[in-house]
Amino acid sequence: MSATRNVAVPVGSLRKGAYSRLTDNALMALAPSRVRAGIVEIGALPLYNQDLEDDADRPPAWAEFRTQVKAADAVLFITPEYNRSVPAGLKNAIDVGSRPYGHSVWDRKPGTVLSISPGGIGGFGANHHLRQSLVFLNVLPMQQPEAYIGGIADVFEADGSVVNEATQNFFRDFMAAVDAWIETILG
Ligand code: FNR
Repeated sequence: MSATRNVAVPVGSLRKGAYSRLTDNALMALAPSRVRAGIVEIGALPLYNQDLEDDADRPPAWAEFRTQVKAADAVLFITPEYNRSVPAGLKNAIDVGSRPYGHSVWDRKPGTVLSISPGGIGGFGANHHLRQSLVFLNVLPMQQPEAYIGGIADVFEADGSVVNEATQNFFRDFMAAVDAWIETILG
């Protein structure tokens, strides 16, 4: 097996107890050993404003975020759904990473999307709104398996482990597919 695969994980929810964060922990625990899927924090990114791109004014948090994503082999978006779309903080992170023009950190990055919701349709709206941006950003998206995790409030034990075997198996297979997709793109 070849080198470690570092996967940057922007998480759409900013709250401490977020199911999205629990989901990243669970995915990491079930991923192939060479895959490291670490959260890239987006909560402190100032709102994107092109006026601030002059070097003197550019927020250090933007530069740090861009460096982290650029250094990663791939990107995995884990997002809840807010009003049938992605939370504003995640859209802001996507916008920050996409600029300055011609220097997008997303370009040709292998990527995938997993959405979560306490509801039955698993954040389908957010998942596909996000995919719309990824097309424009030239992220190379894993298409299958799709991942819409509904009923998320019932997925985890108090210690963050995954309650049922079917979900564990899905998470394990999903991360194996992410690993294989990165291999397909990067070799
Ligand atoms: C929500 N929630 C929600 N859920 C959903 O399935 N579809 C939706 O459109 C929305 N819209 C929405 C808007 C806003 C502003 C909030 C705060 C919440 C509920 C949401 O899925 C739930 O709060 C999740 O627990 C959020 O994910 P985290 O924070 O647990 O990762």
